[in-house]
Amino acid sequence: GTKLIVAIDGPSGAGKSTLSKALAKHTGYVNIDTGAMYRSVALLANRQQVDVADEHALQRLCDGMTIEFVRDTEQERVIVNGEDVSQQIRTPEVSLLTSKVAAQPVVRDAMVRLQRQMGEVGGVVLEGRDIGTVVFPNADVKFFLSATAEERGRRRYEELKAKGVEVDLQQTIAEVEQRDAADSAREHAPLKRADDAIDIDSTRMGIDEVLDFMLQEISARE
Ligand code: C5P
Repeated sequence: GTKLIVAIDGPSGAGKSTLSKALAKHTGYVNIDTGAMYRSVALLANRQQVDVADEHALQRLCDGMTIEFVRDTEQERVIVNGEDVSQQIRTPEVSLLTSKVAAQPVVRDAMVRLQRQMGEVGGVVLEGRDIGTVVFPNADVKFFLSATAEERGRRRYEELKAKGVEVDLQQTIAEVEQRDAADSAREHAPLKRADDAIDIDSTRMGIDEVLDFMLQEISARE
């Protein structure tokens, strides 16, 4: 069948990453984690002590940056300027900085351009906040995946705990809410549901249930 462009948007912790990876596996499509791209910019900005308000410095940083997604057996790795940063982009410190970096138009322009290059051929699942609204307004299938902030905070907490990261549940929920507020309130490309997106509230749904539903919607259009 046709190779589609599939967009998955929604707040953090709604299950976008898990589901995009599972969808990619089932369809043979390439998974593009756009959050990892903004996280990578934040990581570099942090390391190079770039002020998040310094547009020129951010522009230089983005111009000289290469990002690759590499799938080995089970894990998906993020390679930035030749270095595997998969773990380092997931720390709470980088997470919070990412929302600030991602609010800068120069950063968004650079990342959106890369995302369009990677996605325009089709056969892709892109996950993010603005895929169906800004990056690919003509995507073939758009999902808006959400869940309550409490449930999303709890999931992130379990995820970090399983990785051996010491975290506090209430604080994790608070961080999710903080990031929601920043992502929804920002001026440029805020988190917003596309008018033609398919809504999925995953608060009380299992991964497999959501996956089956998404696969049906995709195969109906292929
Ligand atoms: O999805 P993830 O939690 O990894 O995204 C990290 C941050 O990157 C988000 O909180 C948001 O600020 C930013 N982001 C964005 N646009 C996207 C994807 C992520 O602004 N398309």
